[in-house]
Amino acid sequence: MAKTAIAIIGATGNMGSAIAKSLAKGPYRLLLFAHDKAKLESVKQDITKATPSADIDCVGCPMDASWEADVIISAVPYAAEKDVVEKIRNVATQKVVVSIANPLNETYDGLVTEPGTSAAEELQKLLPSSKVVKAFNTTYAADFAQPVINGQQVDAFIAGNDEDAVDVVKGLVTTAGFNAIVAGDLSKSRTLEAMQALLIQLTIKNNYNWLAGFKILHN
Ligand SMILES: NC(=O)c1ccc[n+]([C@@H]2O[C@H](COP(=O)([O-])OP(=O)(O)OC[C@H]3O[C@@H](n4cnc5c(N)ncnc54)[C@H](OP(=O)(O)O)[C@@H]3O)[C@@H](O)[C@H]2O)c1
Repeated sequence: MAKTAIAIIGATGNMGSAIAKSLAKGPYRLLLFAHDKAKLESVKQDITKATPSADIDCVGCPMDASWEADVIISAVPYAAEKDVVEKIRNVATQKVVVSIANPLNETYDGLVTEPGTSAAEELQKLLPSSKVVKAFNTTYAADFAQPVINGQQVDAFIAGNDEDAVDVVKGLVTTAGFNAIVAGDLSKSRTLEAMQALLIQLTIKNNYNWLAGFKILHN
């Protein structure tokens, strides 16, 4: 069976590189894109050093990376997503597109999205023929190196409208070492994005050093 191919747009960023490093351990082919080619090559080298079996290529443009991919992870700031969409639109039809964005304002104390929507739903509107799934927005980049904090495996929430797409993304979240929790349909992204805005505010206030996450305690 062919490996699932995953394009990561913004693979030199904090999140893009952390996700790439984690997924390289799984049965995936990774197609990395970022504008800075030297930095991207260095991300690839770091990953290959940590995981020599990694199946990983640097690709010269988001469209080529997404063309070959089954899953496209948009690891860019919310404000850059429209620009990315313009480049991948023609090759993203029927594919799983993962929205990890938190649409924070400049002072990190609110969201720039209107009430009644979310970054993930806005991405779905821009890509109506793709299957947008929210994931990885409630986990900090630093959590990926060790997704267990104080002995507790960090929860990672997923939201999406297409059951098969949600299952695929659940596999990615699990491979990355998090406890995957399916929160519901894509509109649950509103809550997930607001939750992370709160965690960011608490992180700043209480000096969590950007190493924090959610854990639902249950019986
Ligand atoms: N940092 C976290 O802990 C965290 C946690 C959860 C979710 N998130 C979300 O993850 C996303 C990325 O955050 P980050 O902290 O990883 O940001 P970052 O470190 O600034 O990285 C952003 C990446 O996006 C690329 N990029 C920027 N504009 C682009 C464009 N127009 N087209 C293509 N690529 C572009 C950048 O590469 P170039 O400079 O080469 O363009 C870089 O690789 C954001 O939406 C954020 O809300 C972050």
